[in-house]
Amino acid sequence: IPVDPFDFIIFGGTGDLAERKLLPALYYRQRDHQFSEPTRIIGASRSKMTDEEFQTFAKKAISEHVKPEDIDAKELKTFLARLSYVAVDAMSGEGFAKLKKAIGESDCIRAYYLAVAPTLFGEISHKLKEHGLITPNSRIVVEKPIGRDLISARALNDQIGADFGEHQIFRIDHYLGKETVQNLMALRFANALYEPLWNSAHIDHVQITVAETVGLEDRVTYYDKAGALRDMVQNHMLQLLCLVAMEAPSSMDANAVRDEKLKVLRSLKRVNGNEAPKQTVRGQYRAGASAGGPVKGYVEELGAASNIETFVAIKAEIANWRWAGVPFYLRTGKRLATRVSEIVIEFKQIPHSIFEESAGNITANQLVIRLQPDEGVKQYIMIKDPGPGGMRLRQIPLDMSFAQSFDGRAPDAYERLIMDVVRGNQTLFMRRDEVEAAWNWIDPILNAWQENRQEAQGYTAGTWGPSASIALIERDGRTWHEST
Ligand code: BG6
Repeated sequence: IPVDPFDFIIFGGTGDLAERKLLPALYYRQRDHQFSEPTRIIGASRSKMTDEEFQTFAKKAISEHVKPEDIDAKELKTFLARLSYVAVDAMSGEGFAKLKKAIGESDCIRAYYLAVAPTLFGEISHKLKEHGLITPNSRIVVEKPIGRDLISARALNDQIGADFGEHQIFRIDHYLGKETVQNLMALRFANALYEPLWNSAHIDHVQITVAETVGLEDRVTYYDKAGALRDMVQNHMLQLLCLVAMEAPSSMDANAVRDEKLKVLRSLKRVNGNEAPKQTVRGQYRAGASAGGPVKGYVEELGAASNIETFVAIKAEIANWRWAGVPFYLRTGKRLATRVSEIVIEFKQIPHSIFEESAGNITANQLVIRLQPDEGVKQYIMIKDPGPGGMRLRQIPLDMSFAQSFDGRAPDAYERLIMDVVRGNQTLFMRRDEVEAAWNWIDPILNAWQENRQEAQGYTAGTWGPSASIALIERDGRTWHEST
């Protein structure tokens, strides 16, 4: 369904995010006929560039990041014709008057996408206000990191909040745009099957794994100041935890959903200084083999000494009626054995077995929600091994792989999220209080690490992280689900 016409202004229009994600996502929406006239896309960056040069940049980005079979020459031409460029310097304010002229008096939906460093968020927002560029129909989109702790997150939120109303601020967590993440809500709230079991009476524990094979990539300055806890847990992993743990919202309305997520974040039990060494593991990859070849260790890649973590595992607890006593084990890291993101819900063991020992072990039921790479849901159940050999029990997955069940391309998270910005639907975006509640839980962990001088332990690239991460879960008599 086409959306209303809009102006999409990308600050950092010639940057990495625009090139890899935003321009390809916008192209796909054009190709699928979602734009109405007159929709315009305006690149804004510091460098001087003509409209044609920006169009050439976009064409190259699309040819590199869109599958060749998805490029339709006619649609691409129409798309490129929507693109123009204005050189803008956020710090000096140069270029904002020109931007105003380029946008003109249009009162259609306007989205300012800040694909720039967070240090510029406040400046850009204030300058937009000063130049009269914020209309009632305007929205601002910001990407993480929103702060590096609670204080800096509040400061950033205050800066943007001085110019835009909360209903105009779209804080992106691209995990919320992923198909399977949204499917989690369908699974929980469009089926009667799971909800009665979705609590501490029937669930033993939950595991959330986001494993990557990539290393530092080209993000030297950012990553070494952030680390895995800030980069992945504060946002993506806590959002996944919220969607698993929240109560049923009263509707899919943005605030109804975000109210429920907020309650979960506020119920997270604080990890204090004494508990941190037992409940958290920090790791950093050393040289090893990953993604089919030898790779350097983090420090060699960085070219400097560093104690930042590229891996983190945490035993989190939610102190509320539904989840008391059900640990949520989180782990994420770079240069791990394989690229996989999944949520595992492990149910309790049966209360009593009627089978002979020769029937074999009875494994607890598991529901595995796989976000990537091959999206789908598997429900592991026990069955009788077929055949005349007597009663032998075996675990098998009831397997719903999305690629097999549905035809067609899985759209990138950004396609969905950008269109939601245009539609003004904030359900899949983080509200201010959510971001701050997440930092409120992360801060004590960061402090404990510092006070206890909890070092990042080495792990060989291409493995599942430091052995302490295995010990973290095995101490409780449980094991990490084997993700392949
Ligand atoms: C980003 C992190 O938010 O998410 C990166 O900054 C990480 O470090 C990326 O690689 C992972 O996203 P995805 O969609 O590839 O799982």
